[in-house]
Amino acid sequence: MSEHDSEYMGAVLLQKGYLSTEEESQADIILVNTCCVREKVEHKIFTKLGRLTKLKRQNKKLIIGVTGCYAQLAKEEIKRRMPQVDFVLGAQEIRRLPKVMGSLRSPQKRQDKMPDESRQVEGFPCGFRRRSSIQAMVTIMEGCNNFCAYCIVPFARGRERSRASEEILREIKEAAAEAYKEVLLLGQNVNSYCDPSNNSISFADLLIKVHQIEGIERIRYVTSHPKDFSFRLVETIRDYPKICRHVHLPVQSGSTRILKLMNRKYSRDEYMEKIEWLKREIPEIGISTDIIVGFPEEIEDDFKQTMSLLEEVEFDGIYSFKYSPRPLTKAYQYPDTVSEEVKGSRLMELQALQKRIQLAKNQSLVGRVVEILVDSVSKKDPHALCGRTSSNRIVNFKGSPDLMGKFLRVKIIRSGPNSLFGERV
Ligand code: 5AD
Ligand code: SF4
Repeated sequence: MSEHDSEYMGAVLLQKGYLSTEEESQADIILVNTCCVREKVEHKIFTKLGRLTKLKRQNKKLIIGVTGCYAQLAKEEIKRRMPQVDFVLGAQEIRRLPKVMGSLRSPQKRQDKMPDESRQVEGFPCGFRRRSSIQAMVTIMEGCNNFCAYCIVPFARGRERSRASEEILREIKEAAAEAYKEVLLLGQNVNSYCDPSNNSISFADLLIKVHQIEGIERIRYVTSHPKDFSFRLVETIRDYPKICRHVHLPVQSGSTRILKLMNRKYSRDEYMEKIEWLKREIPEIGISTDIIVGFPEEIEDDFKQTMSLLEEVEFDGIYSFKYSPRPLTKAYQYPDTVSEEVKGSRLMELQALQKRIQLAKNQSLVGRVVEILVDSVSKKDPHALCGRTSSNRIVNFKGSPDLMGKFLRVKIIRSGPNSLFGERV
């Protein structure tokens, strides 16, 4: 979601006649789009702003804006600690960027409005340039009502709001007309999507409508909450081939006791049942997840259950984090019982296990032919390209940039824990 906000802000600047640069010292305007999910980012933000304000001493005309989730929650603190910052715009106010920039030249007109919680979710404006020419990100809902005990997102992004399906479909048709082949539907909890203008349209119904759009070949979405992940959705993925064979289903912990303390509203068994549905109905499904280690009261036995869940599911990828207490959240009041050292060693153990699982899974793909959509040039080798399978596996192969955006068949010839290497067939 924050990526997509950055994309929007970049497009606003292009519209206003700015060009992009990789060199901060050459920039006339720098926007720092912030996250607040973990504590570490806060430290990063102020270090970054400290460096940028030094640039401002050399270039008095430089405009610095701070935007996004952290900006939403810590507006006053940013202004107090960094008076050189020209404006602060929270995650729920991003669409005011054109107005704010217009008023920069006449500061007396500037006013800080409070975010409007009932604000409708807005799409990407027609005619604005997206970052990728292959995948179009499309917001379908924003905000979250779940209040997981560790999570600051409902405070930063506000309550859940869905966008009218007609609006979403119009945006996707526009993207298809511009030759986009893939859409990534965005929302904090896409499974609870409910069309505000026709509440009989659920997320599965929306997927089916997107599936009908000509030109769109792949449909991806993030993020799914396990409690709302229905069998109907599994059937929909199974029956509609353009819906990618990949689900990101954050589990957070393998211990029902910890899940309860986290206010996740499902047990380990309930989560495993959904994994079984997916594997049974769609054998080629790729599944990824998020894990938090060291949540308050997590003892060795809880952690072992997370480890065993990883072994049972055999995820294709995980994002794993040490628990970080966040203000405003319920868990902020709990004593942070797991030491930093234990959190660190649990994280390492978890990642080592996952690496072994991924290595073995990827090894088993060697010799197989898969279909990929070519979406980028390899970061490590300018003569290599990267593509993704429907199940979200990344495959590197030698090829020229004119293959970007094409569907290709490649044979897997080598594998590592995080990637596959193939050749065109
Ligand atoms: N500490 C650690 N990880 C967190 N996440 C969210 N809040 C916290 C926190 N306070 C992780 C969750 C979530 C992902 C986006 O970030 O795993 O799914
Ligand atoms: Fe945060 Fe939970 Fe909402 Fe995800 S579902 S954004 S973890 S509160």
